Amino acid sequence: MPDTTVYLKNYQPPFFSVETINLNFDLYDDHALISNELKLTRQHEGPLHLCGDELELVSVHMNGQKLDQSEYILQPDALIIENCPDELTLNIVTRIYPQKNTQLSGLYRSNHLFCTQCEAEGFRRITYFLDRPDVLTTYTTRISAEKKQYPILLSNGNLIDAGDAEDGRHWVVWKDPFKKPSYLFALVAGNLACVRDQFVTCSGRSIDLRIYVEPGNEDKCTHAMESLKKSMRWDEEVYGREYDLDIFMIVAVSDFNMGAMENKGLNIFNSKYILARPDTATDQDFADVEGVVAHEYFHNWTGNRVTCRDWFQLSLKEGLTVFRDQEFSRDMNSRDVNRIMDVRVLRNSQFPEDAGTMAHPVRPEAYQEINNFYTATVYNKGAEVIRMQHTLLGKEGFRRGMDLYFNRHDGQAVTIDDFVAAMEDANHIDLTQFKRWYSQAGTPEVLVTSNYAQGELTLKMQQYCPPTPECHDKKPFHIPIRFALFDSKGQQLAIENEILELKEKEQSFTFKGLSEKPVLSLLREFSAPIKLKQNLSQDELLFLLKYEVDGFAKWDAAQNLIINSIKDCLNLHANKWQIPSALISALKHVLLDESLDADLRAELLTPPGFEDIAMQLESVDVGAVEKARDFFHQQLGWYLYEEAQMLYQQLWTSEDHRMNGPAYGRRKLRNVCLWLMMKAKESAALDKCQQQFIAAQTMTDQIASFSLLVNSTNQGLREQAIEDFYKQWSKEDLVLDKWFTIQAISELPETLNHVKMLLKHSAFSIKNPNKVRALIGAFCMGNPRNFHAIDGSGYSFLAEILVTLDKINPQIAARLANPFTRWKRYDQHRQRLMREQLERLGKMELSRDLAEVISKSLLVNEV
Ligand code: TRP
Ligand code: ZN
Repeated sequence: MPDTTVYLKNYQPPFFSVETINLNFDLYDDHALISNELKLTRQHEGPLHLCGDELELVSVHMNGQKLDQSEYILQPDALIIENCPDELTLNIVTRIYPQKNTQLSGLYRSNHLFCTQCEAEGFRRITYFLDRPDVLTTYTTRISAEKKQYPILLSNGNLIDAGDAEDGRHWVVWKDPFKKPSYLFALVAGNLACVRDQFVTCSGRSIDLRIYVEPGNEDKCTHAMESLKKSMRWDEEVYGREYDLDIFMIVAVSDFNMGAMENKGLNIFNSKYILARPDTATDQDFADVEGVVAHEYFHNWTGNRVTCRDWFQLSLKEGLTVFRDQEFSRDMNSRDVNRIMDVRVLRNSQFPEDAGTMAHPVRPEAYQEINNFYTATVYNKGAEVIRMQHTLLGKEGFRRGMDLYFNRHDGQAVTIDDFVAAMEDANHIDLTQFKRWYSQAGTPEVLVTSNYAQGELTLKMQQYCPPTPECHDKKPFHIPIRFALFDSKGQQLAIENEILELKEKEQSFTFKGLSEKPVLSLLREFSAPIKLKQNLSQDELLFLLKYEVDGFAKWDAAQNLIINSIKDCLNLHANKWQIPSALISALKHVLLDESLDADLRAELLTPPGFEDIAMQLESVDVGAVEKARDFFHQQLGWYLYEEAQMLYQQLWTSEDHRMNGPAYGRRKLRNVCLWLMMKAKESAALDKCQQQFIAAQTMTDQIASFSLLVNSTNQGLREQAIEDFYKQWSKEDLVLDKWFTIQAISELPETLNHVKMLLKHSAFSIKNPNKVRALIGAFCMGNPRNFHAIDGSGYSFLAEILVTLDKINPQIAARLANPFTRWKRYDQHRQRLMREQLERLGKMELSRDLAEVISKSLLVNEV
């Protein structure tokens, strides 16, 4: 295989700029014809290199003259014209086959729709173009199609013309006045229902808002529309950013590789992140819809108006936009609980990535396939790196930096260095050392020891970052550590500065004039994406759980108490092990503490997951960890049974089925209670569980009880629940995804066979990414005890699926291979089994996407 690695250090500006592009799409049932008129101006000496991928070239004209085959070079991935004038007009006609496009990149079909996905490199699958984010131009798009089947024809910008043609066809012309890179181009054609609303901006302009969905789904758009309006207002209020076009459209499609896409004025969404009704979507789904709608909307300024120079700068738009959507969600809901959930995502997916074979910095320096770099590191760690700048500069300082960034770079394609320079210049500070967060991968560990004597507390901090493929010897990071000190009565002491800035490999901090030894709370709000090694005693952790007012720090104390207890269980004989009674009473207190919000109580009572525990171990014996977790859950349920049952009953009686923050919190807490009860005494709690399953009026309540029934040892009940749920929801595609997932993550031993059977179910399709994620992804990533079965059956199952899926959708195949990138963390036996599968795959002919993941996972000992 030729090495196709792309390097940041080889960046060169484009040789040509594009003044305008005029596109014409003729859509037919079995193909599409695209003509593309480009006006080009030379910027540097060199050939004109246009990218293409799986295109059938029909003709090329230069300045009105048809080019002969000898006048250009046609390669599978390019159309090259070596000698051309400094100014030229090209007319290129290509033919493509959207109905055969199973990769879902470029122009493809989803159910009866035509739609596009151009990020990162999909535009070249439509026509030949300078398909790179630093080539910005104005798009005019004409679409023609049969009118009955495709009454709705959409593209970016404003509709400027439309009409009927012969043979039952019709046409439209859209013009986008804003210059944009090709990855933001979009087109949709089909029979869609439209839900409309409007938004009046801060300067009094009225914006036409439209959500297009498949007919029948109109009643599931209210929440997305409300979320959109809230996002538009929030960006005005918090960042002073007003929407720029007169129309904003969203289209929901069933087949989509990712969450959603921020195409200018025409966002395209995975329907999972638009459609929500209380009976079909859980409270978490509602939160996800709000967050993703906001994320894509916020891209209009962070991503579209100011875009990326090259794909190494992906976090410029993604990290920043995730930070913005996280803060939006915190402002709309509970700030503390949202922070806890964001940290949970970071620890469960980004930390393992940083410790795996695909580890890379927030700004990678090399890639084989850019689609493999839409990662938790670029998105979520990228957001943490923005957050740290927010912490260091303060709210006002950060806003000054953002204002300068928009002023300087509106309409440009820029780099992460440009972003940081705006932060520096607006605040007159130097972030040189801080920028190592962008260039060095790995999760830094900070070891803290403290010493108190004669009114003086000294903290010694040492930082260390494990080696990662791109760098073995890390330079120290600039780490902001937010902290608080408490007196023995639980009162917070006044301090001058809440942030400790750790910059050296080893550094000490001293606090003087204390009247007693204080209790220290470090890394409040999770102020840096690090692993803090502090070895607090059980008493200190209990103290923080009781007195901390920062929700994250309080929750982290609870998590650490539980992790310590589960680790004890792992080290002892299970029959000698007991949850410490002080921990039981503390958690019991949380359960009953009405001075805390219900959702925070639910989070505090939710034990850490498999990954949280695995992260702390040198070598993970999956079976042992799962057994210890089971013991813990059972004992906890046992000790809290009475209280949980009482609270459950109380919250069930008062349930109002509303969709607002407090109601979400109460349902979450009630379902934690039900889970505890079922863990402890299944036979006693089963009635309640079944009753909830039957009477549930929200999907939150139905799915919580369904999941417990599916894990029940009572086969009859289990099968009945599976059948009933299916019958009730057989026409709701997104609900069936949940039905697949709950079965795929069942803890029962026969699950793999059950999953294999479900692959043949008529509602399953390997071509639909949501279905693949719901069934196969859920099994491989959300069911550690079965996926990591000691006989290797889970691994060979995944390898087989990858072989099939890679031919259909390489992007999804590469993502699904993720569990194999973590093989080094497991015991020897499992390592060997996983490597066997990797080696088998390594010998096959694979897509560039999957080949990159497999080959990097096979490189051993380089670290
Ligand atoms: N830019 C999209 C976002 O908001 C990501 C995305 C959507 C994407 N579809 C994609 C990335 C397909 C790669 C391929 O995060
Ligand atoms: Zn994004």
